[in-house]
Formats: sequence, structure tokens, C-alpha cells
Amino acid sequence: MKNKKLWGGRFQAETHADVDEFLASVQVDQALAQDDITGSIAHAAMLAHCGIITQEEYDILQNGLLAVKKDIDAGEAKFTIADEDVHMNIERMLTEKVGEVAGKLHTARSRNDQVALDVHLYLRREVLTIIDLLNQLRSVLIQKAAEHEQVILPGYTHLQRAQPIRLAHHFLAYAAMFERDAIRLKNNWAQINISPLGAAALAGSSFKTDPAYTAKLLGFDGTYANSLDAVSDRDFMVEFLSCASLIMMHLSRFSEELILWSSQEFAFIQLDDAYCTGSSIMPQKKNPDVPELMRGKTGRVYGDLISLLTTLKGLPLAYNKDMQEDKEPLFDAVKTVKASLAIFAPLIETLKINADKMQKAVKDGFLNATDLADDLAKAGMPFREAHRVSGEMVAHCIQKNCY
Ligand code: ARG
Repeated sequence: MKNKKLWGGRFQAETHADVDEFLASVQVDQALAQDDITGSIAHAAMLAHCGIITQEEYDILQNGLLAVKKDIDAGEAKFTIADEDVHMNIERMLTEKVGEVAGKLHTARSRNDQVALDVHLYLRREVLTIIDLLNQLRSVLIQKAAEHEQVILPGYTHLQRAQPIRLAHHFLAYAAMFERDAIRLKNNWAQINISPLGAAALAGSSFKTDPAYTAKLLGFDGTYANSLDAVSDRDFMVEFLSCASLIMMHLSRFSEELILWSSQEFAFIQLDDAYCTGSSIMPQKKNPDVPELMRGKTGRVYGDLISLLTTLKGLPLAYNKDMQEDKEPLFDAVKTVKASLAIFAPLIETLKINADKMQKAVKDGFLNATDLADDLAKAGMPFREAHRVSGEMVAHCIQKNCY
């Protein structure tokens, strides 16, 4: 044999070692190992159900795959670049466990529908975790709003004091954003929960398979209607990254306010010591590093979205190797959003509110000028005139230096 790769039959030489290294994705996609095994067991069950392999062969494959899973869980599995990606590494490990019959597992399947399946399985789980984290954060915000129901502070437009509002009103605005984020992810989940298995490389398979059977075993709502679409669709990932970007944008806006509000200039809040850091030179400093870094990490999640969109924009149907680049941005965004939401909830929970500073800020700056104009208008003056009268009173007070 001139090329010992799983696909080496038509090759006259081994691939160059640098090429192996360049093409390999196992360093990244081994995070999909558990999902790959879950998918493979379901695929083998379908092959047995359709009479393509025997029940005995299925039993051997299932036990072998579970043994591989055990090794991976125990950290004893050896992933190698020579086997390129998680799929071929696991197939090699399975061969080591059960011998030749391992070669039957890949019947009526390609790595193209296999990798698509793995990311569907992975993302539908992660999306549920993120929805959970969003709900936890919403609970904290609702709780905090209830605790500080009576606290009044200036509401701002253009970062200029505008009208008095309740702190609860402000917090609940963010709760509303995170509620929309959760709804968006729920819709995203419905797009994710469809099985691509059965599409094989792109055109389905000449075996009489039953894609609906695997879909049902794996808890999917259905299968893709078109096999070309099944292996080349990454829309659900783009949608996820877009949802992730919105979550980060909301966290970033909130972070920006926490940073401003904890400055001495505002002094509306104090972040708990457990969520701040000091300076290596200035002993008095207490820096809001957590919200700052969250604002910073927002950029990287936007980058993940743009990275995937750019990867996909020029791709002809169906699978192209470019698509291997989908995983790093996906995993990065999942990790970043989870970590950000998980730390934001306790950050808010432990926040100290300086109600007197907020109250004082409401008293300066003529925040009742709109109410005065409204009252005059209610008494019969046209609103435009009432606005002018109220504005002139503000100008008069400023001139007389009486606030
Ligand atoms: N490692 C590949 C990926 O992540 C798996 C699919 C490879 N398919 C292929 N025909 N080269 O996209």
C-alpha cells in the first residue's frame, strides 16, 4: 500500500508531513468526540435496523464505541494529527478495539454528513445551556429591581440627565433584552434540531437507509429535505453567532454603564471587591476589570460571526474543506458567551447601590422641566409654548446660578 490513510487507495504516495499538519483539525474538533460517538452509535443502529449490518455487528460496534468513549473520558485516548480529524481518530481507535468490523461503520455515511451531525448535536446542547444562563441573569435582574423598587436616578439621553426614572425600570430594560436573546436562541434551536445524517458525501447513498430512524433516535425534530443542503448548511451556526453577538452587545452596553457608574464622577454603584482588581502601582485603585473585559470580549464574538460569514461567502455546493474553519469561531463564541453570562449574574447580584447619590443627581439638572411643560400644557397652553416657557425658566436659573 502506497498510502496508509483511510482514503489512501487511489494514492501513489503518502501525503507530505507538512500537509498532514496543515490539514489536520483534530486539535480543535476533538471537542466533538462525545457527539461523534453518539452519532456513530445511532448510525450503526440504523444500519442494523435496515439490515445493512447484522445485529451482532451492531453489538460489536456499539460496545467498541462505548469503550473508546471510556478511554476518551479517562484521558487515555491518543488523538494524532496523522489521523487528521476527530472522526478518523475515533474510527482508528474503534479499529484497535474491534478489528475489521469497524470498517462497516462508515457504510452509507461520509465525514461530510458526520461532521454536520456532530455540530448539530453539540450546538443544540450548548444553546440550551446558554438559554439557562440568560434566564438566571434575568432572575437576578428582576430580584435586584424588586429590592430597589423605590430608588430613583436620572435617566439619560445623549448621556445628559433627561428625566427621573426608577432603578428598577433601568434594570428591567436589560431583563427585556436578555429575554429577547433567549427567544432568539429558542428559534435558533429549532433550526439546529434537524438531522443531516443520510446525506452522505452530498448525494445520499445507494444503500436503503432510513435517515428518519437516526433522526428519531437522536431526538431530532426531523431530517433535511435536500442532501446538498444538509452537508453544506451552516446557517444555523451563523444564526447562533449572530444571537451570541447580540448577547455580548447587551452585556457590553450594560458593562459600559457599570464602568461609568462606578467611577468617582458618578459614584452610583460599588462593584463588590470580589469582582474588581487593584493596580500594581497605585494603591488606591479599584478597577472594574470584569465589565471592561466583557466589553473587550464582545469584539471577539463579533469577529467569530464575521469569520464564519466570510468563510462561507464564496463556497460552491456542497462540502468544501474551507468549512473546517467553522469550528474555532463557533467554539470560541460558545465559550466566551457562557463565561460572560456566568460571571455577570453574580456581579449584578453583589452590586451595591448608592441610592443617595442617585437621588442627589436627580435633584440637579432640571430633570422636572418636562413635567413643568406638561403641566402648563395640561392647563391649556400649547405644548410648544409650554416647552419654551419651561426652557426659559431653566435658562434663568442657570444665569442666576440657582439650581
Ligand atoms: N474535518 C472535516 C471538517 O471539519 C470533516 C469533514 C471532512 N470531509 C472531507 N471530505 N474532507 O469539516
